[in-house]
Amino acid sequence: MVKVITIDGPSGAGKGTLCQLLAKQLGYHLLDSGALYRLTALSAEKQDVPFDDTEGLARVAASLDVEFRPVEKGVQVILAGEDVSSAIRQEHVGMNASKVAACQPVRDALLQRQRGFAEAPGLIADGRDMGTVVFPEAKVKVFLTASADERARRRVMQLEQAGLDADYAQILQDIELRDKQDRERKSSPLKPAEDAVVLDSTSLTIQQVLDRVIALT
Ligand code: CDP
Repeated sequence: MVKVITIDGPSGAGKGTLCQLLAKQLGYHLLDSGALYRLTALSAEKQDVPFDDTEGLARVAASLDVEFRPVEKGVQVILAGEDVSSAIRQEHVGMNASKVAACQPVRDALLQRQRGFAEAPGLIADGRDMGTVVFPEAKVKVFLTASADERARRRVMQLEQAGLDADYAQILQDIELRDKQDRERKSSPLKPAEDAVVLDSTSLTIQQVLDRVIALT
């Protein structure tokens, strides 16, 4: 059976970096489920589909023409032949992704696509509902958190490294709003699976977090 390790948690808790390191160390595939919601938001924006048009959004999600291309520095995200790796990381796309993600038909449209990533020898699944909805049978489930301040600080560093503008106060406000939207929505609200190990990374280095997760496998 394909081994699946689910890493869920709020925005900026360090899931992305952790998941890339885990996938590399274990030789597993990687699912960045947030990228699928970001791609749905970006496609909807490009196609002028309003964010309250549930059916339109679900159609966009179901017909995403996306390719995740492994490159030296991570993964290149190609949408209909165009490299959107940076475009999907913009703050407004993240905010729109959170709106799109509250829409159950969009989540339904992306479900099978996400499960399709589970191929031998294993999968690291990064998201909000990996352990609760998409891979409930996973043997190792982690819910990674960190304080909102620390998550905002990390996001600023990440954006600056990508050469994008970053305003700490604005980012903190966005993180708090996105947390609220993700926790309070009716469809797959952000919460740890009952059998998840909750890990607070506020004062841990990425290596310490990695070691703790590896110890669970
Ligand atoms: O990078 P960050 O952690 O801020 O966000 P992301 O993982 O790229 O996900 C963007 C948005 O998609 C989140 O705010 C969630 O609302 C939504 N999402 C979700 O609902 N379920 C997932 N499995 C992954 C992301």
